[in-house]
Amino acid sequence: MINVKQLLAAAAVAVLSATACSGPDTLVEENIANAKVQLGALLTASEQGDTLRIPSTYKDGQVRFVPIDDWVSGFFAGSLWYMYELTGDEMWAEHARAHTEKLDSIQYLTWHHDVGFMVYDSYGNGLRLKGNDPYKKVIIQTAKSLSTRYREKAGVLQSWSVDRGWQSKRGWQCPVIIDNMMNLELLFQATKMSGDSTFFHIAVSHADRTLENHFREDGSCYHVVDYDPETGAVRGRCTAQGYSDESAWARGQAWALYGYARAYDYTGYPRYLDQAEKVARYILGRLPEDLVPYWDYDCPDIPDTYRDASSAAITASALYDLYAKTGKSLYREKADGMLETLSSPAFRAEQGTNGGFILMHSVGSLPHGSGIDVPLNYADYYFLEALIRRRNLK
Ligand code: GLY
Repeated sequence: MINVKQLLAAAAVAVLSATACSGPDTLVEENIANAKVQLGALLTASEQGDTLRIPSTYKDGQVRFVPIDDWVSGFFAGSLWYMYELTGDEMWAEHARAHTEKLDSIQYLTWHHDVGFMVYDSYGNGLRLKGNDPYKKVIIQTAKSLSTRYREKAGVLQSWSVDRGWQSKRGWQCPVIIDNMMNLELLFQATKMSGDSTFFHIAVSHADRTLENHFREDGSCYHVVDYDPETGAVRGRCTAQGYSDESAWARGQAWALYGYARAYDYTGYPRYLDQAEKVARYILGRLPEDLVPYWDYDCPDIPDTYRDASSAAITASALYDLYAKTGKSLYREKADGMLETLSSPAFRAEQGTNGGFILMHSVGSLPHGSGIDVPLNYADYYFLEALIRRRNLK
């Protein structure tokens, strides 16, 4: 386990200089310089001639790659787009385009719900930054594919199929995970692009049912809610990636916060902003002093267990979003603090290490024994996004 306190003390001077000075934001600038080196190395490892591979993590001294139907396949392309946004260097856009277009066939994928992550992070950013019109068709087709998972009676998008993998062994009928809130942005955008309001209505229904059924009194949420697809009734609430059914899995709380903040953006419905703020209150009340959560807020082994840098990066990015919407300085202060800790040697890898990933110490799924205390491509993606959001606020 890392000694975060010691490492943070060593980094304190750098952090203070980053926050105290006016003019260029040294924390952001210094992170851009670092990311150029790290992601440059990862890019080299990922590209051999015309063969493009998708890096997901670094384990036992090797960069690991995933196939395009893996839920994390869009994050590397997305990170390359963010590097383009942060640097203005066309080199990043060229590689981002190639890695995005490698994902072309995902627009027809219907066997899981994560296509929102996969296509919005890649094609969505490409469209936003380069106005590449053909990308709209991909986003709209993806929205159609995702909509095939809508279960009318329950009013939700089914997250996982139950006819395959470990999910088939849990007795679920229509499992919905809180992560699914992250797929809604693609639906909202598809309505804007196509004029077809079906996607908007599905997204709103899903967000409303999730609001109704996923949350506890204290603002925390369950990971999985299983519905009866015939009657729409809730069959059960439990976890898949958290410590226990009643615990608060850290990344799940981050997805909830981020997802409701975005849903508010597209709808203007105050109930979504309220929910995002409730989740934010819960998270801010549970964070350790250095603001990087343990992998589950209720893990009884805290402080002798793993941190999850990915949760911190997602939460920081969402808190900037919430600050932009509410003007409440607490959100911005906490997001700044998270970025400062993530930028310290406790969490940010030394250049030339970590396989080229920026952040160390994330947790994929502890109960499944996968991706424990490793770099993860989505931790880097949301870290870069948080830097952009911080820079845009200034
Ligand atoms: N969406 C899967 C995860 O957050 O691990």
